Order: sequence, then C-alpha cells, then structure tokens
Amino acid sequence: MPPVGPAELAEQAEHFRRFAGETARQLPLYHRICQAAAEDAEVVARMFLAPTEQRRPNLLLAAVHDLVLAGEGDQLAAWYASVTDPPRVVGSGGEDPWPHFRSLALDHDGVAQRLATRATQTNEVGRCGPLVLALAGLAADAPGAPAGGSRPLGLVELGASGGLNLRLDAYEYRFEPGGAVGGPSPLVLTCRVRGERPAPVPAQLPTIASRVGLDLHPVDLGDRSAARWLVACQWPDQPERIHRLRTAIALAHAGPPRVVPGDAVDGVAALVDEVPAHALAVVIATWALAYLLPARQRDLMATLDQLGARRDLSLVFAEQPLEVPGLPVPARPDGVDDPRFTALVRIDWRAGRRAATRLADQHPHGTWVEWLTG
Ligand SMILES: C[S@@+](CC[C@H](N)C(=O)[O-])C[C@H]1O[C@@H](n2cnc3c(N)ncnc32)[C@H](O)[C@@H]1O
Repeated sequence: MPPVGPAELAEQAEHFRRFAGETARQLPLYHRICQAAAEDAEVVARMFLAPTEQRRPNLLLAAVHDLVLAGEGDQLAAWYASVTDPPRVVGSGGEDPWPHFRSLALDHDGVAQRLATRATQTNEVGRCGPLVLALAGLAADAPGAPAGGSRPLGLVELGASGGLNLRLDAYEYRFEPGGAVGGPSPLVLTCRVRGERPAPVPAQLPTIASRVGLDLHPVDLGDRSAARWLVACQWPDQPERIHRLRTAIALAHAGPPRVVPGDAVDGVAALVDEVPAHALAVVIATWALAYLLPARQRDLMATLDQLGARRDLSLVFAEQPLEVPGLPVPARPDGVDDPRFTALVRIDWRAGRRAATRLADQHPHGTWVEWLTG
C-alpha cells in the first residue's frame, strides 16, 4: 500500500463521520461502526487499498458484510440481521460490535482482497413499484394501443445491474391506498401513496414483449458470490430490503434477465433497434443516469432524439434532479421542489416530437410515491 498523508487520512475519516451522522443516523449498527471507524486511523487507512473512486465507507462495510454472509464473520455475525434473527441490539448488554468489526477489517485477508477488487453495487427492486405505474400508463397511451387496452412494451434498461427490475412483471404490488396488481408472487412490494392525487393503479401489469439491460458491470445472478455481493452492499440494519433482494434473486433463477456489458450512451441504440416492431420501445433507468457526467447525459438525450425520429420511443427514469442536470426534468406543478426526492419522469418521442412529463416524486427506493399528474 503506498504511504498515505495526514490530509488524505483526515478526508477519509470525514467520510466515515459524515456517513455515521447522516446516512446511518437511523441504522444503529452502521452508525456505531462508522462513528468508531472515523476515530481509528488504522481502519481508515485500509480504504487506501481501494481504487480512488471506490474509497467510501460503503465499500468497507460491504467487504466485512460479505465475510459475515459467507460465514466468516465470527462473533460479529450476532449483530447482523442478515444472518442472525433476532440480532444483538447495539448498545445493549455492555457488548460492542466495533472490536469484532475492527479485527476483521484489519486482519482478514478477505477484506483486503475485496477492498482492492470490488465496487459497491446495488439492485433495488423496491423501485419497481412507481415504475410499474409509469409503464402501465405508457402501455395504455401508446400509439397503436387498442381502445381500452394496451400495447406491449419492449424494455431496454440502462444501468440494469443484475437486471432484477427488468423482471417487474414477476412481482406483486400493493399500493396503499390504491389497491393491488400483479401476482400472486412470493415477492410483494408495498408502496405508500402520498399527496393529494390517487396513484393510477392499473387493473393488470403491462405486457413485456422483450427486455434487455445494459450495464458497465452487469451482475451475473447465477454466480453465487456475485449475487451475495449485491446483498453485502445492502445494510444489515434494513432486513426488509435484504429479504426483498434475496427473494428477487431466487425468483430470477427461473428466468435470468439478459444484461449486456456496455456504456449506457454508446450501447442504447443497438438495443432499441432490437425491440420488435409491434412493441413500444421504452428505455428505463433508475438511479443510473446520475452516474453519467452531465455532458454524457446530454449525449444520451441526443442519441434518443435520433432514435425517436425513426420510431416511437419513450424514456422513463427515476433520478434525483440535482444529479441529472443534462436531462430534462420538468418542475413539480406546485413549484415546491425538494432536492432529496427522486423524480419519476416520462419522455415520449411521437412522430419525432419530444414531450416530457414529471409523473411523480418518489422515495429513492420506491417505498412511497406522490403522483403529480392526471
Ligand atoms: C445505483 S446502481 C442502480 C441499479 C439499478 N438501476 C437499480 O435501480 O437497482 C447504478 C448502476 O449503473 C451502472 N452504471 C454506471 N455508469 C454506467 C454507464 N455509463 N453505463 C452503463 N451502466 C452504468 C452501474 O454499474 C450500476 O449497476
């Protein structure tokens, strides 16, 4: 490991301090670990095993969580709800998870190896709740949809990760209030409906004629250690998210989604061209376009403008407006913007003309939706 200066160490320590104070404020285990890590120069120095762009607390947390999931977590496992039910409660019984975390972080070769080679990765199926509302509306409005019916959709997902959200018609949805759709399925996704407008819960899920994902680093769900890493990147303080993810991964073994490696901007045209003509081509992206630089976001729109001149096309994305300055995000109708919200936006190209609608705002993981149109 190259020598690390005090300023770099202090910067890394600050990441842990901020993670403890903000992100993990309501996650007792990760709050305790990150608070202690911020004051421990030896643990902070471990971050320099990772490439620069990956030096964030989540990577170390995931590296240790992955060991715990693999059964190598020793006594630390008792605090992890992902492997112990019920887990030990942080701060109770005079016992502290930190010394156990610390010794794994410093002494286990598996942690060093993961820090050097892995990148944090997520695939949040909860985002399918708001997404199915958007897609069902799109299928019903699509040019060529029969009166009172809907047109099949050809999905192309950018930043699809393991492709779990491409399988959105394999899940059951409960909108509260609003009703249920889909299923029965072992995976039930619950989405609270906020605000004044009812959510447009369809009578049935849209028909998906074709589906394919594109990702710089697709996750092969059939590879046990790759699938476990997806779980490791989630937070043990949120067992319900972990349960959702594990269920979705298990279901995907019956029909693994196709996710091809490639860049979202460079690879999108070829995949849109594959969508069968009877289907409406729909590009979807959830918490993925934020990873493109603003100039690349503009390049994506230019590419979609060209595709939209050739065939009817839609883009549905759920992204935080601040993170996507290169994409058109209409203002909320009431003008009250909260930059922490995720905007659910639909852009249609019909006969070459582009129109954008902010359908809703939602929780980043899809646990609630506030419908804004109709
Ligand atoms: C936060 S994850 C979200 C994954 C998934 N969309 C979801 O909502 O669960 C972002 C994904 O975008 C992918 N990604 C980042 N930059 C990309 C790019 N330029 N082209 C394709 N995929 C990209 C990452 O590899 C990662 O899988």
